[in-house]
Parts: sequence; C-alpha cells; structure tokens
Amino acid sequence: MQTVELITKKRDGGTFSTDEIRWLIAQYTQGTIPDYQMASLLMAIYLRGMDARETSDLTLAMVNSGEQLRVNTLVSPVVDKHSTGGVGDKVTLAVAPLVAACGVAVGKMTGRGLGHTGGTVDKLESVTGFHVELSRADFMRILQEHQIVLAGQSSDLAPADGKLYALRDVTGTIESIPLIASSIMSKKLAIGASHLLLDVKFGSGAFMKTIEQARELAQAMVEIGRAGNLHTVAAITSMEQPLGYAVGNAIELREAIDILHGQGPADVSELCYHEAAELLVMTGKAADLAEADQLVANAIQSGAAVKKLAEVIAAQGGDARQIENPDLLPSAPIRVMLPATQTGYIAAINAEGIGLASMSLGAGRFKKGEPVDHRTGLLLKAKIGDHVNAGDPLIEIHARNPEEAQQIQSALLACYQWSETPVQVQPLICDVIR
Ligand code: URA
Repeated sequence: MQTVELITKKRDGGTFSTDEIRWLIAQYTQGTIPDYQMASLLMAIYLRGMDARETSDLTLAMVNSGEQLRVNTLVSPVVDKHSTGGVGDKVTLAVAPLVAACGVAVGKMTGRGLGHTGGTVDKLESVTGFHVELSRADFMRILQEHQIVLAGQSSDLAPADGKLYALRDVTGTIESIPLIASSIMSKKLAIGASHLLLDVKFGSGAFMKTIEQARELAQAMVEIGRAGNLHTVAAITSMEQPLGYAVGNAIELREAIDILHGQGPADVSELCYHEAAELLVMTGKAADLAEADQLVANAIQSGAAVKKLAEVIAAQGGDARQIENPDLLPSAPIRVMLPATQTGYIAAINAEGIGLASMSLGAGRFKKGEPVDHRTGLLLKAKIGDHVNAGDPLIEIHARNPEEAQQIQSALLACYQWSETPVQVQPLICDVIR
C-alpha cells in the first residue's frame, strides 16, 4: 500500500477499507509514515469525513496501537464516564463516588485542563498528596479494593491517538466529528470498562457550539461503543452558562463535596444525580430511573457518597481530612466581590469568557505542561434567570493578588447580558442517546 494513494483516495471522496485503516495506523504508530503525509491525510478526512464503519475501524485500530487494560476482566460491571468538557464542570468529581457508593465500580482515567475548560485531574490535585500517575498494577488494585479509581490518562493506552492528536492540534484538524469521536472512544475502549456514560456538551463554553453538532458527535460515539462492545449512553447537555457556581480547582472540588452532601447548586446537582442514576440503570443495579434515583438519594443522605470520595482520595495518597472538612482545602489569599452594574434579569452568561477569566487568575493553563494554581477561581453569585439589583453581588473573584483580581473585572462584566423582563431558563439535559 502507498500512503499517497490513500491520501488521494480520501481527497477525492473515497471510503477506506478496514485493512487500509489498520495499515495506516500501524505504519504511523511505527513511524514509517511521516507527519507531512499524515497531516495531509487528516485534512482530507477533515474535509471529506468518514462513515460510521470507517470511524469504528479507525477507533479500533488506535485501541490496538498500544496496551489495553481490560478492567472488566477483573471487576464487572465497571463503569466509565466522560465529559467533552465545559466551564465549572465538576460532574465527574461527584458522579464517580456516588455510583461507587451505590455498589457499582468506577474505573476512570481523566485529563488535565487546557484552554478555558478545566480538567478533572487538576481539580483532584487540589488535595494535598493526591496523585494520579498510577501504574497499571496500582490502578487495578485500587479499583478492586475500593470500587473506584481516578487516574491520569496513561500514554501507553491508544498511543496512536496521542500522536495523531498532537498533529491535529497544529494542522487545523481538531474540529472533525469522526476524528474527535475516534480519539475519545479509543482511550475509553483501551481501558475496557463495561459501560460508559458520555456527557456531550454544547454552547458558548463547550467544544461543540450547537446542539446539532453535539448530537452528531454523541451519535458517532454511541455507534463506536456498539462496535467495540462497550455499552454507551450519551447525554446532550447545555453549556450556555457555567455549571453550578464555582469555576476553578479547589473551589470546584468544594462544590462537588456540597453536591455529595445534597447541598450543591440545583443545576449541577440535578445533572450529577441524573448521570449517576443513568449508570445504575445501564448496569442493571436499578430496574429503572425511579429506583436509581432512590439509590442515589440514599447514598447522599447516609453520607456514603462523600465517604467514598474521601476513601478514593486516601487510597491515592491524598489528605482525606480535606474532604471531611473542605475549609482545609487550599484557598486564595484575595477575595474581591464584583457587584452588578445594573438592575435586571440575567439573560446570558458567556461561559467561555468566564473560563478564560478564571484561567488568567492562574486556575487554568494557556500552554500544555504549565502549572495551575489550585486556590484561584470564580464564584458566581447569580445565574441566568435570576433578578439582580445594581450593587448586588454578581461574582466573587478568588485571586493571588489584588492586581490580577482587578485586571479581569471589565472582561467579567462583559460576560453578562441583561433583560428587563423575566428570562426563561433552558433545561440542562436536552437529550439522551442510547
Ligand atoms: N478530546 C479528545 O480526547 N480528542 C479530541 O479529538 C477532542 C477532544
């Protein structure tokens, strides 16, 4: 096979066979196809697309490019959850211990944040001593002993994706549904959970800007799950404004702890409880969503859910007292309350703008590998639909110093749109694809 023939085939709208895709991925992983040819091929895929069979073949070829954990051969069922990323998205921090507290094991690898959306790993690392770099043996041991493990993404799994993603990042080929779907699902299939819940977000703060794009991506990933024997359900959820009130690292972990105590903000709590219930039904732990909701409520009321979070934190070297008493979590030295500059109903909050402001406080990274400041972030005091008077608290800035708190104020105020008349709040969960 010649790489150039495959590039021209896709350029002219052709469809790759299974063998052609396997060959391309094997050769690229071994380094026999140079980046300039693969970049050209990726652009052809970006422009011409791939059908469902090609997308599944590409995913499975990437899975086979490295190690596979096959966690469900040791613990079954074992669930995984993935969010396409958003601002204030602390859902994994609550859903994983909630599901594990209900008796279903959770084996999850998760990423660091880059850009305006935060990463679950960064939020977890707010806890002193907590580590996410686990060997395969430790991952398996912690999963077996505690029914929950929250590790960083291993580069040994689906290494072809790591190489391709780095190339896509610098060749304008990230925003392709088949490439995104295969990239995410290759890492999931390589872990080998039995069930996967996807949270595909759309809106100003999300990767997918429209619900149609989110639905297309969700459908592609559910189909890959089917082809790879991974029972996958996707929730399509709105990221038109930040989730909950907290945006940052320790501040978001604190809100996740509130959710596990049943005291979190209504929007994000509802989403967490729904996702946990969905996983309990998928795995057969509950017969239907009503029964699952009851199990979730019991885990919260009994304190089992928050205890499970403290347990996994301790199992991975963290100081569990910071979960029992969140006042012990790192916090910013400077807090500045930004008041509303006008009276009215909040009509819109630009989630991306809020995420960028939080990044510039040090809570996120502009470049891969940069450290983050776990103490900083933002605490919204009002959300879309709320009526606020001029001078009322709008958003609290948690900063390292007064200058940084000052610098973002006008950008923050520009994130808000106002209405003189009441505003209809759109539902958070817009669709579920099974
Ligand atoms: N996240 C991934 O893992 N891969 C993509 O292509 C996009 C987002």
